[in-house]
Parts: sequence; C-alpha cells; structure tokens
Amino acid sequence: MISDFIIFAGAANPALASRIASELGAQLGARVIERFPDGEISVRLEEPVRGREVFIVQPTSPPVNDHLIELLAFADACRRASAERITAIVPYFGYARADKRHGRREPITASMVAELIQTVGINHLVTIDLHAPQIEGFFHIPVDSLTAAPTLCQAFRRRLPGNFVIVSPDAGRVKMAAEYAHRLNATVAVLHKRRESGTETEILRVVGDVRDRACLIIDDMISTGGTIAESVAALRAAGARSEITVAATHGLLLEGAREKLTRAGVREVLVTDTTPVSRQDWPQLQVVSIAPLIAGAIRRFLADQSLSDLC
Ligand code: R5P
Repeated sequence: MISDFIIFAGAANPALASRIASELGAQLGARVIERFPDGEISVRLEEPVRGREVFIVQPTSPPVNDHLIELLAFADACRRASAERITAIVPYFGYARADKRHGRREPITASMVAELIQTVGINHLVTIDLHAPQIEGFFHIPVDSLTAAPTLCQAFRRRLPGNFVIVSPDAGRVKMAAEYAHRLNATVAVLHKRRESGTETEILRVVGDVRDRACLIIDDMISTGGTIAESVAALRAAGARSEITVAATHGLLLEGAREKLTRAGVREVLVTDTTPVSRQDWPQLQVVSIAPLIAGAIRRFLADQSLSDLC
C-alpha cells in the first residue's frame, strides 16, 4: 500500500518529525543543516530522493524567516535531485496573519510566501489550523489544512468543569469555537477584540452568556499572550467563574507570554506540538502531540485515500 517515501526534518521541529516518522514505522531521512558565519543557511540531503515521495516537516515558526528559507532550500534540493513529489508539512504557517492589506502601501506577505513555496517546486502543502482559511486561495497546488480541534477536545474531555462555555477571543475564531462547542456539547460566547498593534489588543465587549460559568477560551495561536490575558480580564469583568482554561493549536509562547498568562490566573493551557514547546517550570501547560493526525494524513496520501474522516 505504502509507496517509497522519505521524511526529512528541518531544524524547526525535529521532535515532531521524529514522532510522525515513528507513528509510520519509518526513519527520518539523513540530512545536514549548516549555518555559515554570515548567517546563510545550507542544507544537504544525505540520501537519494530520485523517484521518491518526499515529505519535509518544517513549521515556519520563530525565527520565521530562517525556517522559511530552510524549507525552500530543502524543497529546492529535493526537486534538483529528481524527487517524484514534494509535500511540505508546515504545521504552523508563519506570516498567515499578513493575509490582507490594511493600507494602500502594504504587502500581502502570506501570498508572497505562497508564491515562494510553489516556485521551489513544492507540489502539496499540509498545514494545521491555518489562521485564515482563504490563504489556501493564494496557492494553485493542493493545500490540506487539517484541524487540531478533535485532538485537543479529546485531551480535554474528562478535565472540563461543569457548566462551561467555549469562548472565541475574536470574530476570526467563531468557526473554530463552533467546532469545539459541537464536539464538547457546549455553547459559544464571542469577544469583540480590537488589535491596537502587534503586542496590544483591547476587548470591547463580551457577546454571550458567561455569568457564573467556567470558560474554555480557544484560539489558533498564543503568541505574546496578550489576546488571552485581555480575554480573561474581560470574562471575569463580565461575571465568569475564575476557572478559565485555554486551548490553542500553536503554542508560540514568545518571551513574556507565560508570565502574562500566569498573572492573568489561567487555570490550564493546552497546546499542540506544531511548534516546539517546553513545559519546563510551567505546570499549567499541557502539550498534546499532533503527530498521529499528520501521520494519519500521510498514510492516506500514500494510499490515495480521502482525508474526510480526519478533519
Ligand atoms: C489573532 O487574530 C490570532 O487568532 C490570535 O488571537 C493572536 O495572533 C494571538 O496573538 P497574541 O498572543 O500575541 O495576542
């Protein structure tokens, strides 16, 4: 059933790549990644890829630009070495928040990244909880955006307090909140968020019934932690119970985010391993692996089967 395939791990998340390979009973392809003194990145495949199906696992997580260039370099190496087909597994797609112009003299960087990915010969992109689903339209190759919602709901199911509500921290996450609500048999509240800058947000209003209820805030990513901290404050001000739990697909958790969430009094934070996350010194954090989902997708690609039962 499984054709000849090989999985390469970029430097962004080799631990996830190893978990995916072990789910599939495979070994990672040997490769060398080096950095020249001037900052240039060099990659070398140490195994033949001619005629083979290649999967490159590389979230474009921070440092985003380095990881993006490394992904492009890997794909270029595979194409020049006559790989049959190149699938980029980019569990976290950086620049996804730059999906539209806010002013007349701004780029649409997500679209530019899509062009680059296609230019180097990547034939297929797999990603998880793409920030804006319309980004798929920047590509003319197949894009499979899987969702971590079933994985995170499964992990939560037995831990949630009674009488809880799913909270979307902004209008962009309402569909994701509805998906969680459907799976966990709950209702949804939505926050009206205004973004002041890359690091500052303001919650203007809580829409929905949160009084005396426990809250599960869901989001696609936690970056600086500002959105979640502001959301917690707004929910408490609206009379929510103090048991506030957070589930986010991508735990970027940039410097200062953990402290911000601790100060906010979040009870538990659940993220996946789309990007590398360390649990060290932060007992509130739980990390669930997305590897079985990605391995399941790879199995289906190799057998030319539909992904409908996965997402
Ligand atoms: C925004 O639209 C996203 O869905 C996240 O809410 C946001 O990017 C999280 O970033 P931060 O943690 O810096 O507020």
